[in-house]
Amino acid sequence: MRLIRAKDYAELSARAADIIAAQIILKPDCVLGLATGSSPVGTYQELIRKYEAGALDFSRVHTVNLDEYEGLDPKHEQSYARFMRENLFDHVNIPPESTNVPSGLSTDAGAAECARYDALIASFGGIDLQLLGLGPNGHIGFNEPDDHFPLGTHRVALTESTIQANKRFFEREEDVPRFAYTMGVRDIMQAKRVLMVVNGEAKAETVKKAFFGPVTPCVPASILQLHPDFTLVADEAALSRC
Ligand code: GLP
Repeated sequence: MRLIRAKDYAELSARAADIIAAQIILKPDCVLGLATGSSPVGTYQELIRKYEAGALDFSRVHTVNLDEYEGLDPKHEQSYARFMRENLFDHVNIPPESTNVPSGLSTDAGAAECARYDALIASFGGIDLQLLGLGPNGHIGFNEPDDHFPLGTHRVALTESTIQANKRFFEREEDVPRFAYTMGVRDIMQAKRVLMVVNGEAKAETVKKAFFGPVTPCVPASILQLHPDFTLVADEAALSRC
């Protein structure tokens, strides 16, 4: 595990964007695994800035996003598909058909969609660089604390902690979907390189548990300690308990 300590969110975002930019420059047709949530927003802004400055070309990049809420149309304000368009895809020269987010609209509880998504990742030959945020309960994507590490893309019942954490984006708590589809831990662990961005005091205890405690499915992110090329970019507040 490589740890990059940033003084604040701006520096963290710049450092993470540098790593993603290096990946795109070294392999222009790379496959990026992307994440939603507030943590990577600054990283995406930095990538857009580099693109606008002529330093990055996304025309041959493919992306696969980690997760999507069940039941949300890609146009829905809080869908992760829309989040990605608004925060990155609409601002760079990536062809829309090269971007992938699981569909939240399957009618068979996700069975076909989850299989399709894993086959899609396999058809790309895996993910070159997977960007992650960290859930307050240690989740990655929507891999919630459990008694095992889920392997492939699957449907998941969101925990109360995640519903509480994510309700800030919805008008009412009842509007937060109770289920989601997410890449599994195997999908994430098979990425050649993994990059996590974490900021803020509120995540400090989770960072300590995940990266300075035992590897356990009760803290899904802890498995990243075993990844051969894992970089954690965190600000001082997120590292304050370590
Ligand atoms: C969501 C996403 C995760 C994300 C997490 C943290 O639940 N499914 O991929 O990492 O929230 O979000 P934030 O960065 O807003 O704290």
